Amino acid sequence: MDVSRFLHSLAQTLSTMSLYKPGHPARERVIDRAFAQLQDVLAEDKHPEFSFLGDEVVYGKTSLRDLRDWEWSKRFSGMGIQRLEFDPDVTREDFVAFLDEVYGRVATPGAPIDTTESRQMGAPLRIRYGAIGIRTETEEGRKVLEREIVTATITYQLGEEIDSIKYMHEQVMKNGGLPLLEAEAVVRSLSVAMHGESEMMLPLLMLKEFDQYTTTHCLNVSVLTMALAEHLGLNARDVRTFGVAGLLHDLGKVKIPMEILNKAGKLTDEERTVMQNHTTEGARMIITSDKELDMAAAVAYEHHIMLNGGGYPKRHYARDVHKASTLVHVCDVYDALRTNRPYRAAWEAEKVMSYIAEKSGSEFEPEIAGKFLEMMRALEGRVAKVDYPEPAQAVTAA
Ligand SMILES: [Fe+2]
Ligand SMILES: [Fe+2]
Repeated sequence: MDVSRFLHSLAQTLSTMSLYKPGHPARERVIDRAFAQLQDVLAEDKHPEFSFLGDEVVYGKTSLRDLRDWEWSKRFSGMGIQRLEFDPDVTREDFVAFLDEVYGRVATPGAPIDTTESRQMGAPLRIRYGAIGIRTETEEGRKVLEREIVTATITYQLGEEIDSIKYMHEQVMKNGGLPLLEAEAVVRSLSVAMHGESEMMLPLLMLKEFDQYTTTHCLNVSVLTMALAEHLGLNARDVRTFGVAGLLHDLGKVKIPMEILNKAGKLTDEERTVMQNHTTEGARMIITSDKELDMAAAVAYEHHIMLNGGGYPKRHYARDVHKASTLVHVCDVYDALRTNRPYRAAWEAEKVMSYIAEKSGSEFEPEIAGKFLEMMRALEGRVAKVDYPEPAQAVTAA
């Protein structure tokens, strides 16, 4: 694949730069080759975008399987380059300036790129790079970003993730198959957004239009579930698996008509049945698309089951639900109640917290509910409200 070839050659160029001084033919040759390969990539894709997520490289929305565990992906993300984008009219000069800047970081490990500063270099910027989620392309956006940084907050843009979710939902609707790589990539990039600063942040989307509910809600539940799993001390891999389960918990809702989903009045019995079937339907869709997602399927099935046996679906044989379902359940209720719905206004955070405390031991698993409340208290002031979905949103700590 051309893109992988280009990335390999980019890495090789950076390695070669440590061996030969500027102007040396060997150095110029590798630069020429990498630049020519970039042109090949640009011939097919005018705006190539790469994300380096530690152990994974994502090109556009596709995870590059042949670059799994590629050493340079870790290096790029470690030096603050989680995202790399090229414009079609990039020149060799731009490319060399970019290489010099990155090489400077390779040669001085531990000096992460100051993305604000690097954005200011050269205009217009035909190569953009930096941390995921703190991307602003306009002068205005940059000023907003700088203002925000002063108040120690961060600017997020979850547009990519939202697009990925929409794409996933479309795929499910079209052919019943669920793109697992897509789901994993979204979870990884959410995890990067959460840990972009020294302390953990909770980037939570704010709903503007009711028809954005399902996408907004599944992203938020994924973020909250991962934060809670981390707070409980689970390892990174389990945290991400729980994150995928959070992301997919309401997948069954993609088939529910909007009129029912957003109905302002009381649901009829028939409508309620359709609504409640999102659990069994979601579990079926997940497990038939991918057997590896057995835990996500269990969560889709169980996330409305209460500790005391209430909720739905009704079970004929009582048993404990999966631990992940108890986490998703509390995060699901939190996000749902914090959001404006056609049939009720959003609750204040305090009111939701009291509700969870009150229902601990009946609706919610007490240990999990307790840990959730503890986590939310600890992260007070680290919740980043993210607007849906336009570019360059400013985010304020709340
Ligand atoms: Fe649900
Ligand atoms: Fe939900």
